[in-house]
Amino acid sequence: MKQFISVNDVKQIDKLVLSALAYKANPFSDKVLGANKRIGCLFLNPSMRTRLSTQIAAQNLGMECIVFNVGQEGWALEFEEEAIMSGNTVEHVKDAAPILGKYFDILAIRTFPSLKNREDDYSELYIKQFIKYAGIPVISLESATLHPLQSLTDIITIQEVLNSSNSWAGDKPKIVLTWAPHVKPLPQCVANSFAQWVNAWGKADFVITHPEDYELSEEFTKGAIITHNQEEALKDADFVYVKNWSTFNDYGKIYTNDPGWMLTNKKLQPTNHAKVMHCLPVRRNVELSDEILDGPDSLVTQEAANRVWAAQAVLGEILTG
Ligand code: CP
Repeated sequence: MKQFISVNDVKQIDKLVLSALAYKANPFSDKVLGANKRIGCLFLNPSMRTRLSTQIAAQNLGMECIVFNVGQEGWALEFEEEAIMSGNTVEHVKDAAPILGKYFDILAIRTFPSLKNREDDYSELYIKQFIKYAGIPVISLESATLHPLQSLTDIITIQEVLNSSNSWAGDKPKIVLTWAPHVKPLPQCVANSFAQWVNAWGKADFVITHPEDYELSEEFTKGAIITHNQEEALKDADFVYVKNWSTFNDYGKIYTNDPGWMLTNKKLQPTNHAKVMHCLPVRRNVELSDEILDGPDSLVTQEAANRVWAAQAVLGEILTG
């Protein structure tokens, strides 16, 4: 693997999932694989899970990890080609990225979308410019439109639950991605990425439910059943993935904040004792109810803990590939 920006960089999802679960069983099995190698993790935006899990994963492989909060501590970067830099940006990525390529063996970057201009956000200019100019493998720690380490973790967690379920018959599980309310307009990355990975994995019946006007890009959802009827979608679900996103067509807006879309235990009754997932951080009692987050069907802690093994599997693949 030369880079990890989306599911398209992965040859075999199942192999990566197996590798992650093997690392979970034996975290230090490759403790010298990353010896004398260094990863630079650049954060243009806040993070807890991604930052810490990537650091731990690198450490488990014997690799040094240096975190740089560019958004708070670095020079303001310019990404546009041929920019006349008379505004607020101080350093062009064309100058910064090659230097980072000399300091590190792998570069990992987190950026968020502006949610102001869809074309700009969906061009993924920031991460593409780092790939173009750094000259070393680049890992997305979440980009403007996708969050592949989160989605790999989500597949790992689903597979882990299926593996541990004695009653699982081996048929395809039903996975439902449901929109949830939120007070702020959020990116579509997690939902886009989850849809892209579940579709590519191909081992589930996949349904997406959201209010009208919250359609995601077909580029990621193609292959899923899409409905505005949450109750119908939840029927017989095995896994329910909860996430808010802002509008894609009339870009970056909140059209509704209907609390009726928040998942409750009552809503879960018609499911197949569904397990509930969320990438975190979560707004309690806005996106997801306390009763679910604190109840036996929540996978959120297991899911967040699995971020380490997803990152370790990806780093391991890049280091060996
Ligand atoms: N899920 C996730 O990416 O969490 P952080 O924003 O804390 O990294």
